[in-house]
Amino acid sequence: MSNVRPASMQRITNFELANAFIDEQVKAIREQVKDQKVLLALSGGVDSSVVAGLLIKAIGKQLVSVHVNHGLLRKGEPEQVVEVFRNQLDANLVYVDATDRFLDKLKGVSDPETKRKIIGAEFIRVFEEEARKLTDIKFLAQGTIYPDILESGGVKAHHNVGGLPEDMQFELVEPLKFLYKDEVRVVGDALGLPHGMVYRQPFPGPGLGVRCLGAITKDRLEAVRESDAILREEFAKNGLEGKVWQYFTAIPDIKSVGVRNDLRADEWCVIIRAVNTKDAMTATVEPVPFELLSHITNRITTEVKGVNRVLFDLTPKPTGTIEWE
Ligand code: XMP
Repeated sequence: MSNVRPASMQRITNFELANAFIDEQVKAIREQVKDQKVLLALSGGVDSSVVAGLLIKAIGKQLVSVHVNHGLLRKGEPEQVVEVFRNQLDANLVYVDATDRFLDKLKGVSDPETKRKIIGAEFIRVFEEEARKLTDIKFLAQGTIYPDILESGGVKAHHNVGGLPEDMQFELVEPLKFLYKDEVRVVGDALGLPHGMVYRQPFPGPGLGVRCLGAITKDRLEAVRESDAILREEFAKNGLEGKVWQYFTAIPDIKSVGVRNDLRADEWCVIIRAVNTKDAMTATVEPVPFELLSHITNRITTEVKGVNRVLFDLTPKPTGTIEWE
């Protein structure tokens, strides 16, 4: 099948066009897979969630979704995947909590590229183990979208560590492969997926692993997750959700002295990053109101264990990248 978006294909900008696309894809998926089962790695990101939504509509429980929780997801994400797909959509969902496996493999590893490779390779290994437990699966669904094809020959960016072993060859089901990201979101909306899932900000495949700088420890990872949750909650309450392109916290592997309960205490600092961009190649810093930053600082230093300072990153890209890694 061609990997070029047909020239006749209309840009999906509204529900009517999205519904027509959904009907067409439901028919095509049913024709392709017939009564066979389809496997999907469901991260809970926009693309895999929309693929899951489409396939559930087309073939219901013939879709087997596997959600691997690598322990590096944001607060509430694995729970949302289970709630939406298993509880609300009654999907066939295999949930694997592999947190300890990932953290064991990452123990003492501080080099960012090595961390990425370990996370990617372990992800494939866990997914492969789950896939081997299932029999008679010939099809693999993937959330490939058109920019993946244009930019990297059809391989999703975070699948950069090789794929499944030779003896596990599947026929691919890629219903979104000619869609741009904005179109995927309209389709997700039309499928009735939660707004927060469909319009969520970009999140790297290695997750909080790139924001817990240096060697990851459980307690510092927890501090990244909790501070990120506070930041997101406050941005949502103060009208910045959906306005700011990407915002998150990162914690470097350093401690500095502070004062807690009248005693000197060595603790971490949380860095807040909030940026706007069109294409992630360059970025500007969101001028977050000072009062809000003070309030967030207060919450983080009182609610997040082990943190005594909060810093705001004023650096555009370039010279900074968006992620701290
Ligand atoms: P940088 O840090 O290079 O990030 O300025 C640019 C954008 O890419 C996101 N990013 C990733 N997205 N898988 C992804 O899907 C990844 O491994 C990954 N690493 C970085 C980053 O969050 C920012 O939006």
